[in-house]
Amino acid sequence: MTKKFFLKTYGCQMNVYDSARMTDVLAAKGYATCETPEEADLVLLNTCHIREKAAEKVYSELGRLNAMRRELGKRMHIAVAGCVAQAEGEEMQRRAPFVDVVVGPQAYHRLGDLIDTVEANGKARAFDTGFPTDPKFDALPAQTSSASAAFLTVQEGCDKFCTFCVVPYTRGAEYSRPFAEVHAEAERLVALGAREITLLGQNVNAYHGERPDGGRCTLGELVRRLAEIPALERIRYTTSHPLDMDADLIRAHAEVPALMPFVHLPVQSGSDRVLAAMNRRHRADDYRRVVDALRDARPDLALSGDFIVGFPGEEDDDFRATLKLVEDVRYASAYSFKYSPRPGTPAADKEQLSEDVKSERLAELQFALEVQRTKFDRALVGRTVPVLLERPGRHAGQLAGRSPYMQAVYMDGPAHRIGQVAPVEIVAANPNSLAGRLV
Ligand code: 5AD
Ligand code: SF4
Repeated sequence: MTKKFFLKTYGCQMNVYDSARMTDVLAAKGYATCETPEEADLVLLNTCHIREKAAEKVYSELGRLNAMRRELGKRMHIAVAGCVAQAEGEEMQRRAPFVDVVVGPQAYHRLGDLIDTVEANGKARAFDTGFPTDPKFDALPAQTSSASAAFLTVQEGCDKFCTFCVVPYTRGAEYSRPFAEVHAEAERLVALGAREITLLGQNVNAYHGERPDGGRCTLGELVRRLAEIPALERIRYTTSHPLDMDADLIRAHAEVPALMPFVHLPVQSGSDRVLAAMNRRHRADDYRRVVDALRDARPDLALSGDFIVGFPGEEDDDFRATLKLVEDVRYASAYSFKYSPRPGTPAADKEQLSEDVKSERLAELQFALEVQRTKFDRALVGRTVPVLLERPGRHAGQLAGRSPYMQAVYMDGPAHRIGQVAPVEIVAANPNSLAGRLV
């Protein structure tokens, strides 16, 4: 009998990719996915550790799952993967001793063996910080299916050490997958139906994968080479660091039609003083210059960003500088967060701002960003844009897709068009999506 597993993914797109790969690993072990934890033989949480709330959510979910397992009185294994698993390791054993498998993001290719161990009535744990000594990607089974919009991890880890961030500790040192391996995976995804590929990395524009000739391939070059794959219509990349936005990658935005005119470029703060305390290694004006260069290359390019408010030492003037930067850049969308001290990171030991100040600043920033997002969305109404039709919509006869700028677009249309990029006239801007009409 096939065993069933229920998988829940938290956090970033890289976790979405990792979850797909873990699904491949489990499929090879005879596991099929199911829709609810109640019917599962194995529940797997792929976790995120980037902010405090994320980890707390995992612990409460684990508590609920354990209670459910007891209530149902069934044999069900609980596994935790991802960055909370990596970072909490020992702590998780104390706070959630009932968890059966704990596996870090660099070790999930060993998930199959870990499952064998628990099925033989043990607990199993595997972490791997020594990256890439144990090449995870080589050990993973090849994908057997792909969404029309697929993710492809090309780079992992980070050497930047921003003082707020756990990534260099949870995902380890920066590592780029070799060009040939990435290219082969992209070809496979396209053969399986992908029309759009988002290249993923914590610091994706620092990509420098080894080329067959021994040289290094930059992200700009990778984009150009992937754009030659017939039937690959759209390429995106995320997440970038402003410092690694080199001239060639910027030029690729002018020269490669498949490269989508939308860049997620986190800045975190508009204050040079705070940027220095964050160890971002650039000033606010350096960021403005990168944005200008991108828009010179591709005038219709839209931006999204990440912001942190209430970083230790942030004064009102610093926060005003962030608002000023937002005003100058004009974002199409953005993510903003209250600073959350992460154990083991340098900023966590600094004197913290009050929760009230953080909340006030976050509300003010989010209001400004929301005004910009609404304005950007409304400006599209009446225009026709190419939309990748990705899946059925919420209602019968409806399709859901994405604009070049990552907006969700809903429209009526036949299911056989899923997987195509189609011209769609935008007829309305709703709070979280656009309404369109197939032209
Ligand atoms: N507190 C708040 N936000 C954070 N981020 C990363 N670490 C923290 C933290 N300690 C945000 C940054 C980053 C995004 C992925 O999460 O804005 O770009
Ligand atoms: Fe974290 Fe990004 Fe800074 Fe790396 S560049 S430390 S992933 S915020």
